[in-house]
Amino acid sequence: MLDQDGYFGESVAASYDESSAEMFDPRVVEPAVDVLAELAGDGGRALEFGVGTGRVALPLAARGVEVHGIDMSRAMVERLRAKPGGDGIGVTIGDFATAKADGTFSVAYLVYNTIMNLTSQDAQVDCFRNAAGHLEPGGCFVVEVGVPDLRRLPPGQNAVPFRVGEGRLGFDLYDVAGQSVSSHHVSVQDGHGTYLAVPFRYVWPAELDLMARLAGMRLRERWDGWTREPFTSESRQHVSVWEKVAG
Ligand SMILES: C[S@@+](CC[C@H](N)C(=O)[O-])C[C@H]1O[C@@H](n2cnc3c(N)ncnc32)[C@H](O)[C@@H]1O
Repeated sequence: MLDQDGYFGESVAASYDESSAEMFDPRVVEPAVDVLAELAGDGGRALEFGVGTGRVALPLAARGVEVHGIDMSRAMVERLRAKPGGDGIGVTIGDFATAKADGTFSVAYLVYNTIMNLTSQDAQVDCFRNAAGHLEPGGCFVVEVGVPDLRRLPPGQNAVPFRVGEGRLGFDLYDVAGQSVSSHHVSVQDGHGTYLAVPFRYVWPAELDLMARLAGMRLRERWDGWTREPFTSESRQHVSVWEKVAG
């Protein structure tokens, strides 16, 4: 059953860094931090929605950027706090679609597909409004998220495996009519099995642009990734930057 920490409660938080180890690789993190530090600018503040255990926030703060986070999971934030530099990151516990942090920011960001954790269009629209509400005029909101993978669905089927290995099985189940996908994780260790299903709302780049527009922002950049490769018809993810329109 879900508690106030949502899908990132104690048991997920305890193994988050280990199970997402490839995302903590400096070759993944540093290009993101380069972009975010540049957008934060000299003396600018950064706000991370879904700050988690500090994968991005800590190295960004180490570059001299003041970083604040919003997250609903106390268990995840406890792991952030326990790391070197963790007590230098201010955190607001709450839902990043609506929770407020003090002050204004030159950049707000939401990475690692976490926009999809908001499972309704209304909540995703609220999230864009919340980001814009925290930004200075000219400030930027950055989202890293996958392009909906519907082209990989076998004809007539709604399941796509993403991990098949000894003792581990992961697959996504799509509900195309409802624009939703749930990720299912099965693992068996020492004869003991666990199962976790997490619901997501997948979202198209053009829909995100409209959410940004509703929130008073316009698209400034869209790349295939943090190293600013062009976004193309074959891109499977994007990093998008919307700028808050002055006035
Ligand atoms: C996939 S983790 C990403 C953590 C970190 N940003 C990273 O890149 O490693 C998603 C994080 O977002 C948080 N989260 C998900 N939905 C949320 C919501 N609606 N409000 C606040 N936090 C949320 C979770 O608790 C978790 O810490």
